[in-house]
Amino acid sequence: MNSINKLLLENKAWAAEKKADDPEYFKALSLIQTPEFLWIGCSDSRVPANEITGTQPGEIFVHRNIANMVVHTDVNLLSVLEYAVAHIKVKHVIVCGHYGCGGIKAAMTNHDFKQVLNMWLRNIKDVYRLHRDELEAIPNLEQRENRLTELNVQEQVLHLAKTSIIQRAWKYRKAPDLHGLVYGLKDGLLNTIFTMTAESSVDPLYAYNDLGQD
Ligand code: CO
Repeated sequence: MNSINKLLLENKAWAAEKKADDPEYFKALSLIQTPEFLWIGCSDSRVPANEITGTQPGEIFVHRNIANMVVHTDVNLLSVLEYAVAHIKVKHVIVCGHYGCGGIKAAMTNHDFKQVLNMWLRNIKDVYRLHRDELEAIPNLEQRENRLTELNVQEQVLHLAKTSIIQRAWKYRKAPDLHGLVYGLKDGLLNTIFTMTAESSVDPLYAYNDLGQD
């Protein structure tokens, strides 16, 4: 059997099992969506948001891209962020990186990945440049990649805090909290690297002082 047919068969089996457990399962889920979390993670197939957090469909609103980036011109990311924060009113936004990230490793090389990927990875190189002294003091390559993974998560959380979407929500409802996490592929554990809340200060250069209500 080819893999797409297997996937569709697995789906039928899963749906049947869920319905057998709880006949109202899909009906209840289809009526309302009120997740408390927005997850911004890496597209890597080994870091599935629901599975590693023991959460169910309906609990996490998800956006994933290569190396869990918050790029301030990315309309896709910003639409997800605005919808999750201003409309669903999530309580927590998680940026989740992971050790062994291919995007981080690629950004640390000088290889030409062709224009589109070069453009995306450039955002990670910019994070490296900001922390160049600290990173280049680490002689071991894997340890340096791990540290860049952590610093990248921290930087993406700071990028969230620079948006008017987050600043407006902080001003008017004192939420959401922002969490930078890193997932270990080798131990399955999430570690908190960096946190920001409505009480955190934002670099004055990026702070809006006349934010109106939604
Ligand atoms: Co990755």
